[in-house]
Amino acid sequence: MLDRIKDIQTRFSEELAAVANQPDLEKLKLKYLSRKGEVAMLFAGLKDVAPEDRPKVGQDLNLLKTTINDAVDKLQSKWTAALSGPALDLTLPGRRPFVGRKHPLTQVLDEIKSIFTGMGFSIEDGPEVENDYYNFEALNIPRNHPARDMQDTLYITEDVVLRTHTSPVQVRVMEKKKPPVRIIAPGRVYRRDTPDASHSPFFHQVEGLVVDEGISFGDLKGVIAAFAKKMFGPDTQVRFRPSFFPFTEPSAEYDFVCVFCKGKGCRVCKNTGWVEISGAGMVDPNVFKFVDYDPEKYTGYAFGMGIDRIAMLKYGIHDIRMFFENDIRFLEQF
Ligand code: DAH
Repeated sequence: MLDRIKDIQTRFSEELAAVANQPDLEKLKLKYLSRKGEVAMLFAGLKDVAPEDRPKVGQDLNLLKTTINDAVDKLQSKWTAALSGPALDLTLPGRRPFVGRKHPLTQVLDEIKSIFTGMGFSIEDGPEVENDYYNFEALNIPRNHPARDMQDTLYITEDVVLRTHTSPVQVRVMEKKKPPVRIIAPGRVYRRDTPDASHSPFFHQVEGLVVDEGISFGDLKGVIAAFAKKMFGPDTQVRFRPSFFPFTEPSAEYDFVCVFCKGKGCRVCKNTGWVEISGAGMVDPNVFKFVDYDPEKYTGYAFGMGIDRIAMLKYGIHDIRMFFENDIRFLEQF
């Protein structure tokens, strides 16, 4: 009897090792553990064992039964655990990692900066919350001067404004530095405007300022023309029209030939063939007086530039509000 127990133990171990799937395991259970299975048969034979051997044989039989039971349970629970793990569907398409990119305005500004630094300009910065003095007064725009109507100002207090242009940086730079000056100053500016396709209550400008002995309007035209060609291609023409700004004399507004129709006339340039960029001119001697520059010795030119407008032209965008809506479908395209 003890030999039979050992024999069954060995056979069970071998057959268990060969079990590969659930039906195999069911068959094994039936063979060894069912009511008429191998183990039950051994128990049935217990009555024929000599009474003095029965306790020992009974013990071994019980051990065999629990060993087989445990082995079957262990394998079963291993499989169940594997099945109830996290579902992994290998047929699902992979997820593309999201690649971030620079905002189109930042990309255009980077390009503007690189063009001007390539021409020897350095980059300056100024505050967006600005004193009336820098935003207006020192730029030759006195209180109650009608030129203040040119810009719809957002006031914080009577003397503090959100800067309406980047021109105040001209004054701040000249206050702390003697000529020669050759700078651009990019940044955000604010106006009390109702948003529409071409207006936003905030937008971006680049200010330019060059002061030295013997600087002329010709230098200004040369630098603007060189910029236009680098930004929009070698055929880009530039024109200057007489205008007025309190901080320049003479003053001009300048246009680039329309990049879409190359000057033939289209919707973007309202059939004029030209797109207005901003203002420019020779620094007014009155501005030099505010910063203690000698107007007899030095001359200089200044210009403004709308970054948003340049980006709109570069990418063919017809609504300035797109830049500020943070719509990922728009931003993804640049
Ligand atoms: N600050 C002017 C504006 O925002 C633009 C401008 C005109 C800047 C003439 C200049 C300039 O530097 O010389 O409308």
